[in-house]
Amino acid sequence: MTLAIARSCLMPVSIHSGKSVRLGDACPDYAELVATLIHTRQQRAPRRLLSPGPSTAQMTAYFEAAAAAPDHGQILPWRFVVIPPQSREALGEVFAQSLLERDPGASEQERAEARDKAHRAPFLALAILREDGDGHPEIPLAERLISLGCALQNILLSAHADGFGSGLVSGQSMQTLQLRRLFALDDNESAVCFVAIGTADRAKPIRQRPAPDTFVSTLQERHGR
Ligand SMILES: Cc1cc2nc3c(=O)[nH]c(=O)nc-3n(C[C@H](O)[C@H](O)[C@H](O)COP(=O)(O)O)c2cc1C
Repeated sequence: MTLAIARSCLMPVSIHSGKSVRLGDACPDYAELVATLIHTRQQRAPRRLLSPGPSTAQMTAYFEAAAAAPDHGQILPWRFVVIPPQSREALGEVFAQSLLERDPGASEQERAEARDKAHRAPFLALAILREDGDGHPEIPLAERLISLGCALQNILLSAHADGFGSGLVSGQSMQTLQLRRLFALDDNESAVCFVAIGTADRAKPIRQRPAPDTFVSTLQERHGR
């Protein structure tokens, strides 16, 4: 079943009527679809993401999916900046400059490689977190970051549902002044990672994910306290 069918199957009950509904009742194989989407998504390096990328309508749908992320206090503590083709050169310059800061002796070829990274993947956007200073001290940094993580996952899964490959990339340029300037970050904002989307150039085995018993335990009742 495609996500479009799943959506059409769910919308009449869950969105249009406003009534809550058990997803499994509304659409019996919805759970299987979601599990398949989650477990087959995988990180793809931007250099492996080729054209075609998502259409404008698809990108809009991905950002609508981001807006469905949990958001304690509904403060929208994050934003995205899309980097269109005409802005890739400026981003490449930031990558080259930050390489030079780390390694003043970087060769022309190394600087060209740094610049080239900005031209990978047909869709590229920077995820930006607002850390504080917005009148919501009750929402700590961890909760803000979780909300952004959920937004990112919604984007990745939506792109995956459309058949695209995707990846998150950070790296040493994220915290540089040049990058902050290019994206006009406010003092209370930080650049978290880039999200890249495109057509994967080849298949890649899905990594073995950790088993739940490696990260889940059960709280034991404690006596005598
Ligand atoms: C905030 C964030 C930044 C990331 N940055 C990078 C990166 O710079 N380079 C990279 O190869 N992977 C990056 N990743 C992706 C992880 O490496 C990837 O999710 C992990 O290897 C697990 O692979 P999977 O997503 O295919 O399960 C990043 C992930 C997150 C959440």
